[in-house]
Amino acid sequence: TTRHNFIIAIDGFSSCGKSTVAKALAKKLKFVFIDSGAMYRAVTLYFLREGIDMKDDKAIAEALENIHIDFIPNDDKTEIHLNDEDISDEIRQMYISDMVSEVSTIKAVRQAMVKQQQKLGRRRNIVMDGRDIGTTVFPDADMKIFMTADPQVRANRRYLELTNKGEQVTIDEIVKNLAHRDHIDSTREESPLRKAEDAIVLDNSYMSQEDQLTFVIDEYTKRRASK
Ligand code: DC
Repeated sequence: TTRHNFIIAIDGFSSCGKSTVAKALAKKLKFVFIDSGAMYRAVTLYFLREGIDMKDDKAIAEALENIHIDFIPNDDKTEIHLNDEDISDEIRQMYISDMVSEVSTIKAVRQAMVKQQQKLGRRRNIVMDGRDIGTTVFPDADMKIFMTADPQVRANRRYLELTNKGEQVTIDEIVKNLAHRDHIDSTREESPLRKAEDAIVLDNSYMSQEDQLTFVIDEYTKRRASK
């Protein structure tokens, strides 16, 4: 079957600036932006609140039945709702970041999220960012970008982002959290983070946001012409 919508997959390590590029690109192209990591964060929040035992398959299956995630556009932003509650800010906190990679290794969790993500991209033009979008969620995406950046640059960016929001963190905590997440994300059994063979690499360590947007728009223009 031929798809008529255009799907852009942006994958890469944590804090590489994926969502910044993805958001800017979606805005420019008038595509829908979907942050797949926010969905894993929402599940993590639910599990922590409900005290779900990560080894209890039955409890996990039941919890997944009760988790409803929606993306709600509001002005310039998109809110993420968990069972009708806006949890956009809550899921960015460090206690969620510390647990989310573990939750993301659970097979039932991934299956449920991948299914919802595929549904979100069924008929609309989308930009989705994550870890396995180009490999597992949309292997037939029209354009795949794999983002990387120098670990020190990533840690500094994350530090500024969190401290600007008033969160009390140290660079050291962030370096540890990023290294820990990189390790879990790329070594897990179920759809680990890896570059799809047909993905274009974008190392943005020393690139401005403007240059990154120009880079992806150029790629898009080439692909659009050949679709
Ligand atoms: O993009 P992020 O840092 O908000 O993602 C949070 C976590 O979710 C990340 O550590 C790994 C997981 N994740 C995933 O396993 N698959 C995705 N498609 C997106 C995120």
